[in-house]
Amino acid sequence: MIKIVYDIRIYRETLENIIKKDDVVVELGCHMGNSTKIISQLSAEGKIITIDNSPESSEAMKSLTKNCPNIEFINGDVRLHETLETVIKKIKNCDVLSIDLGGGYYPDTTFKVFFIWSSTLKPRDTIIRNRGLLDFIHSSSVVKVNEVIISQHGWLESCGDGGVPPRLKELKLWSSKL
Ligand SMILES: C[S@@+](CC[C@H](N)C(=O)[O-])C[C@H]1O[C@@H](n2cnc3c(N)ncnc32)[C@H](O)[C@@H]1O
Repeated sequence: MIKIVYDIRIYRETLENIIKKDDVVVELGCHMGNSTKIISQLSAEGKIITIDNSPESSEAMKSLTKNCPNIEFINGDVRLHETLETVIKKIKNCDVLSIDLGGGYYPDTTFKVFFIWSSTLKPRDTIIRNRGLLDFIHSSSVVKVNEVIISQHGWLESCGDGGVPPRLKELKLWSSKL
């Protein structure tokens, strides 16, 4: 399932409803690790790879990872291919992908990050915290009811396994080699 939320409380409630005790969770945008702590308790027998590129995250996550051995923090930019490549080398599978790059963060960047990471990791469930995407979903409707394109997992099945088409120049930071 793909869940889209905005309110941080709903984001954390959704994590509680979805994460199982032995899940492998990839969290994009952990900031000070407040949700990471919750994820770590929910997935007590699993593993959490969490990423943020802000300088203040590194300090906060250093002390959190000391107390929670199932958390691994990576200081990196999730828009970069090399960050995804680093994560892929650390895990065999991903059960839950959790994306919070700032709730009001540009929906286009959040969607691109979701598209690339989810189509590569193929998570069972994805949770995205973003106001723009929530607005888009509530404000749009399908034109033809017989044109139903729908996915059952945490990624878009219509994107297939091909990675990012090279003709999408704005995604030149990415490649399909993973
Ligand atoms: C709202 S905070 C996350 C809050 C956290 N999920 C929580 O529940 O407490 C958003 C975080 O996304 C991080 N972020 C934004 N863009 C990023 C990027 N391109 N790569 C890595 N981290 C990013 C920011 O540094 C910030 O710490």
